[in-house]
Amino acid sequence: MYSIMASYHSLVSFLVMATTLVASQQCDLQFDGRVPSDFNAATLNTDNGVFDPNNVFGQEVVRVKIFTNVNRVEPGLGGPTSRFTIIARTQPPLDTDFDVGTIPIEVTISDDSIFAPSADNVQTGFRRAELLIASNDGTDASTTGVKTLHFSVMKDASRPLNLTHEYQLVFLESNDFSTNQFVLKTGTILGADTADPDTLQLFGNVNANPPQTLFATPFTEDVFHNFAVTLDFDALTTQVFYSQDNDALVAQTETLANDVSGQGQFHFGVLKKGLNGGDDIVKNGEQEQGIDEGIIFGGIFEEDSSSGCISLSV
Ligand SMILES: *[C@@H]1O[C@H](CO)[C@@H](O)[C@H](O)[C@H]1NC(C)=O
Repeated sequence: MYSIMASYHSLVSFLVMATTLVASQQCDLQFDGRVPSDFNAATLNTDNGVFDPNNVFGQEVVRVKIFTNVNRVEPGLGGPTSRFTIIARTQPPLDTDFDVGTIPIEVTISDDSIFAPSADNVQTGFRRAELLIASNDGTDASTTGVKTLHFSVMKDASRPLNLTHEYQLVFLESNDFSTNQFVLKTGTILGADTADPDTLQLFGNVNANPPQTLFATPFTEDVFHNFAVTLDFDALTTQVFYSQDNDALVAQTETLANDVSGQGQFHFGVLKKGLNGGDDIVKNGEQEQGIDEGIIFGGIFEEDSSSGCISLSV
């Protein structure tokens, strides 16, 4: 589902909702995509229990090279940390609960990042590499009940995106591949009037006409942008929480109607759409050569919010 007809909306109003929120990450976890600090490329290339080693990467790249697309961000550089990802070992934890011993990782794309889910479906219009959660098979409990998905994203100044293009950084793709129930985008949105492409825009279901802009914020460099998205798969609603670096998350929206039905898989990475692709941007989108771009991720996990539990900080 890539005939995106998004339009730009003004920012939703800033509302702090009264709900059951907890100060530390103590809700039941559905999955944990925080990367243990001893992971390396080889770990990621094998069954590792955190991410699926087979998806989504360019199929022309042999297996052993696939995860050169995913680079550890080395600890100890004094950079920012996402709210839920602690740079292990070298940065003193603020308190013992804080040191969860996980590291941010970077997902990069190159000219070779052409995904081919089958021999007759070579996605030449895209450059993409995404992390999928090992347990998230499309029909598992991560897309039932009420769940809160957490993730943090940061720019890599040495591998900037090209904001002439549209990018999908995080999205839920329905199990029949017919829609994205929500999607975090940046860059120039195809089919829309993008006021400032250097913006993180979180859209609701892209089959809505037009898709709702649930939340938008400048994609400031050198800070982690922390998101929590509460998805009610029964009531079909979405609520967005956001903060930067180590600040606690703050509700940015009310509980908004948004069709999150259809289960599916969460994607975390860089999906760069081509230009002038017409009706088939998956195959016909034009991509420049010499791509070396990346986004840093941290703090990916999902918790069970069926009883109203949402973690605002570690
Ligand atoms: C950005 O992308 C456009 C369109 O693909 C291309 O013409 C341009 O050269 C790119 N800019 C940079 C700095 O790579």
